[in-house]
Amino acid sequence: MQPDRSKRVLVTGASGVLGRSLLGRPAAAGYAVRGTGRSGPPQGAGVEWARSDLATGEGLEAAVREVDTIIHAASSPRADTERIDVQGTMRLLEAARRAGVRHFLYVSIVGIDRVPFAYYRHKLAAERQVEAGRVPWTILRGTQFHDLVDGLFAGMMKLPVGFLPRDFRSQPVHVDDFADALWECVAAPPARHAPEVGGPEVLRFGEMIHSWMAAHGVKKPVLHLPLPGALATALRQGRATTPGRAVGTVTWKEWLHARYGGTALV
Ligand SMILES: NC(=O)c1ccc[n+]([C@@H]2O[C@H](COP(=O)([O-])OP(=O)(O)OC[C@H]3O[C@@H](n4cnc5c(N)ncnc54)[C@H](OP(=O)(O)O)[C@@H]3O)[C@@H](O)[C@H]2O)c1
Repeated sequence: MQPDRSKRVLVTGASGVLGRSLLGRPAAAGYAVRGTGRSGPPQGAGVEWARSDLATGEGLEAAVREVDTIIHAASSPRADTERIDVQGTMRLLEAARRAGVRHFLYVSIVGIDRVPFAYYRHKLAAERQVEAGRVPWTILRGTQFHDLVDGLFAGMMKLPVGFLPRDFRSQPVHVDDFADALWECVAAPPARHAPEVGGPEVLRFGEMIHSWMAAHGVKKPVLHLPLPGALATALRQGRATTPGRAVGTVTWKEWLHARYGGTALV
């Protein structure tokens, strides 16, 4: 079926890990896709593109023009988070309201109300903006993508000896499974809080690191890092996981094997 140009979906953060997956998956039937962000489209994206900056509001009005649904996936966890994630979401909501957008889909994270982490407080504040806004909305929360845990482990394993909080629990999900769930939300009416999306298994870092080391060909001692504090306690207790919503289809080992080959499935 040819997409209806008046049923256009705007994807913010379209150059990011999730954004690239969203652009690479089949859009909800009948929709045309426009990507937006500060940079240009990812190579080979083949979608309409509008440059915009959530920190200043520049380009937002043009980006939301003639848009039916917004998937708001842009985020800046490491810099200017208040300005980009919270105020930027307010700016986008306001532009969306003025443009008559019918569905605002906010991408969020499992456990942001249970894990005391500054970035999560900003995500929660952005959720509150969406809930209080005048554009009909859906919020979909997901657990960590495999890619994120992979990067986290790379950082922890940089030194000649690895240091790892072995008892942290994680439920990584394939970014494509999460993208599929978002496209399903686009095809459905605004649902407010949609059922969360978690990966197929809850694992401890201490288990996950073995297959990570095999996949990366890393051989070195790994020492337990007994991190103190409320954040560590929450992650140890698995408060960023959603075992009842283990709907993802790709396990950690399967993802490592697909990405790096080698002996990750051992
Ligand atoms: N990563 C995970 O494990 C995970 C899990 C669950 C949910 N989520 C959520 O999923 C969403 C996407 O995460 P991700 O990992 O794909 O993020 P990512 O790879 O870091 O991408 C972030 C995106 O945000 C855009 N962005 C940053 N600052 C911006 C600004 N000032 N104006 C406009 N765009 C801006 C970036 O594009 P430009 O640099 O081109 O502007 C980029 O495309 C986030 O909301 C995140 O909270 C992530």
